Amino acid sequence: MANSPSAGPGAPPAPGAAPSGKNLREGGTIEPVREILWGSSVGVRKYETPDELPAELRKLIVKLMVVQADTEFASIQQHRPWLDHAPTLEDRWIEARIVADEARHGLQACRILKDFGEEGQVWIDELLAKKEGQHKLDAFNMTFDLWADVGAFTCLVDRVGVYQLRAFQECSYGPLARAMPLMLSEEQLHLNFGANVLRRMVREGPKYAGTPEEAQKAVRRWYPRALDMFGHSNSETSRKAIEYGLKRWTNEEARQRFIAETSPILEKMGIEVPPSDFDRRIT
Ligand SMILES: [Fe+2]
Ligand SMILES: [Fe+2]
Repeated sequence: MANSPSAGPGAPPAPGAAPSGKNLREGGTIEPVREILWGSSVGVRKYETPDELPAELRKLIVKLMVVQADTEFASIQQHRPWLDHAPTLEDRWIEARIVADEARHGLQACRILKDFGEEGQVWIDELLAKKEGQHKLDAFNMTFDLWADVGAFTCLVDRVGVYQLRAFQECSYGPLARAMPLMLSEEQLHLNFGANVLRRMVREGPKYAGTPEEAQKAVRRWYPRALDMFGHSNSETSRKAIEYGLKRWTNEEARQRFIAETSPILEKMGIEVPPSDFDRRIT
């Protein structure tokens, strides 16, 4: 992935190298990016508190953080039944790690919401009360019936999550920009795990868990929901988010990048990639 901190494919970071690629010397500092990097206010200092935000941007951040937190809490509910049913001990441990990571991501999004005072707290209370099936996005209202669903969800839906987070990297709202690096590195582990589950299911079949057919079926079930998650192609919200320096890509740009990245990964496993218009609900 493009956000890998290492110097090249497979190369470990140089000793003492900071994640940004700059060397951290004794007594030195790494300069944080302080200015807005794209949109209509390039070069202006980033927003650091809700009070500084233009009303429209404030509304946009609250809306996006509510959706972000909702997906994190929903996925905990989805993973929960597999905590003690995953096929191997290592898979159970990774499931527990994923649930802990998603809880931390939910907490992080809620901390950002909390800064918005009463308005944020009302959203947090609502988010914490949501049950299975009550979530905003369809992908988070579906159950993991088979282990193949866990593989396809983490490989595909978590990968969309990574695109959503990468779109916020170095964004114009400082607290959000600073939350990204850790969330991204954790999400990367989730989607690598998902790809591995599918790969093993295809190669090893029941010797590991499930069958190649189950892996293929799960991809057909989750792939359209993953593509839907990017939102409408001509979304006014996504256009505004770019203008405010909040998101880097339009919904459609991000969706096309996802398709280009995912297709070779699945094909290499021997899994057929569904056409991009198959079973879609949001285009
Ligand atoms: Fe997450
Ligand atoms: Fe995740």
